[in-house]
Amino acid sequence: MDGNGRWAKQRLMPRVAGHRKGVEALRGVIRACAERGVTHLTVFAFSSENWRRPKEEVTLLMELFLRALENEVARLHENGIRFRVIGELSGFSGRIQTLIRDAESLTRDNTRLVFTVAANYGGRWDIVQAVKKLMAEGVAAEEVSESMLAQHLSMAEMPVPDLFIRTGGEQRISNFLLWQLAYTELYFTDALWPDFDAAALDQAIASYRTRERRFGRTSEQLRSAP
Ligand code: IPE
Ligand code: MG
Repeated sequence: MDGNGRWAKQRLMPRVAGHRKGVEALRGVIRACAERGVTHLTVFAFSSENWRRPKEEVTLLMELFLRALENEVARLHENGIRFRVIGELSGFSGRIQTLIRDAESLTRDNTRLVFTVAANYGGRWDIVQAVKKLMAEGVAAEEVSESMLAQHLSMAEMPVPDLFIRTGGEQRISNFLLWQLAYTELYFTDALWPDFDAAALDQAIASYRTRERRFGRTSEQLRSAP
């Protein structure tokens, strides 16, 4: 979700106004995904690297995260949405950690849409914490497999993403779900996140529908597959 700051700057508003508008945009995208039958939505809200931003902006982002947890979770639950957070949660205040745990347990049996927020998350961090878990379990080197490693990642038991969307014009992954994105279709748009709405989502989905997903095979193989 990139481009909040630029959205605000264009309007001569403080960056935090862009972040506030970004939360609204997210609300709309969650609803649009649920309506379209998307089963999993994962958003990159705050990276392990975002702590490097000016202190005031980090404080305001934490404030917004806290308010969103307080105000939005009940509505997610009413709409049958499961809420999860992935990332190094110990980086957050005790209050935020408690709200996250409560929201996850409240919504754990909801099945309409699994909505995951990556916060204080980094794809490299995720792989390292998975390796640490494997080693702590005493798994022997020759037993380590891709599926075993995958089972220890934050997105274990979740399907790999079909479509990755980055707003705000940059064309990079920026340490998002590195492992899981191996075969994901990538979609980049200049739209700034606060402007990303249901119509913009539909454009991304339309682009996805034009892609041929081969997973390493040839086009001919796919055409002759049963
Ligand atoms: C993304 O918007 C929001 C967060 C990373 C929290 P930015 O704050 O990166 O917006 P730009 O890139 O400055 O426009
Ligand atoms: Mg940015």
